Amino acid sequence: MHEPTTHSKPSDTELRDEGIPKVDVMSIAERAPKTEETMSNTPDTTPPRTMISTRDFSSWYGKFKALHELNLDIPERMVTALIGPSGCGKSTFLRWINRMNDTITGARSTGAMTLGGEDITDSRYDVVDLRRRVGMVFQRPNPFPKSIFENIAYGANLHRKYSRSDLEQLVEHSLRQAAIWDEVKDRLKDSALGLSGGQQQRLCIARAIAVGPEVLLMDEPCSALDPRSSAAIEELIRSLREQYTIVVVTHNMQQAARISDITAFFYEGHLIETNETEKLFTRPAEKQTDDYISGRFG
Ligand SMILES: Nc1ncnc2c1ncn2[C@@H]1O[C@H](COP(=O)(O)OP(=O)(O)OP(=O)(O)O)[C@@H](O)[C@H]1O
Ligand SMILES: [Mg+2]
Repeated sequence: MHEPTTHSKPSDTELRDEGIPKVDVMSIAERAPKTEETMSNTPDTTPPRTMISTRDFSSWYGKFKALHELNLDIPERMVTALIGPSGCGKSTFLRWINRMNDTITGARSTGAMTLGGEDITDSRYDVVDLRRRVGMVFQRPNPFPKSIFENIAYGANLHRKYSRSDLEQLVEHSLRQAAIWDEVKDRLKDSALGLSGGQQQRLCIARAIAVGPEVLLMDEPCSALDPRSSAAIEELIRSLREQYTIVVVTHNMQQAARISDITAFFYEGHLIETNETEKLFTRPAEKQTDDYISGRFG
């Protein structure tokens, strides 16, 4: 999966040295639950299912058109990176996926955005259910001013009432999945605000996981963290992709190359190009993509 590549772009040896993750459809098929059919010796070449899909999706803030007729399919249980210069609409796009733009006066969209085939732009779509299915992790970790335990238990309990022992199991499971259990298991009653930034971010990921989402949205989840904490979050993202569809915004090209399977390049509200990450970084089809990943602008 992580063999070194021999490509010359992007213009650094770093990508080459660290190995660009390759999209391997077979490995994705392997992660699908085994059925009698898939347990046979015939290799399963079924392409990954689309989780989120947009068709001619545009959005506005008042008269300003922030997104222009986007057509994008985000595959299930893969990491999709959104890249592009500041102001190109990455966060705007991400926020439509869990309808966080609903609260912004003047924000509206046209065209289709579906999650598992359901139209999530429909005002009748239950937003509470949508936000359970689609979790969000922000640039700055934002734990509640509560204990570590309560940070996980609080949101989970809003969606479903748990017995105390089930809740304890859920908290442990979520913290384990977010690779922070060992660091906090003896201090679950302590305030979450006493954790380091990197620990707080993993706690926020655990909190998002605890409500049983299918999709995790992450808007520059490492940009407020030191390199070591960033590396831990990157590793976590790679491991979570076994189970979740992840859409992550990043300004860091090396990071996008390391953690994502698919990359989508946005520019001034347009989706310029989307492809398997390795291909997009080594053989971009569009000059604008090439210019951006080579550091010629942005
Ligand atoms: N609440 C808002 N009201 C009006 N305009 C907005 C609002 N939020 C974003 N915009 C505008 O929409 C465009 C896209 O912004 P967005 O935040 O989606 O960009 P971005 O790609 O996430 O940028 P960055 O990399 O700096 O985070 C920008 O021109 C921005 O000024
Ligand atoms: Mg942004």
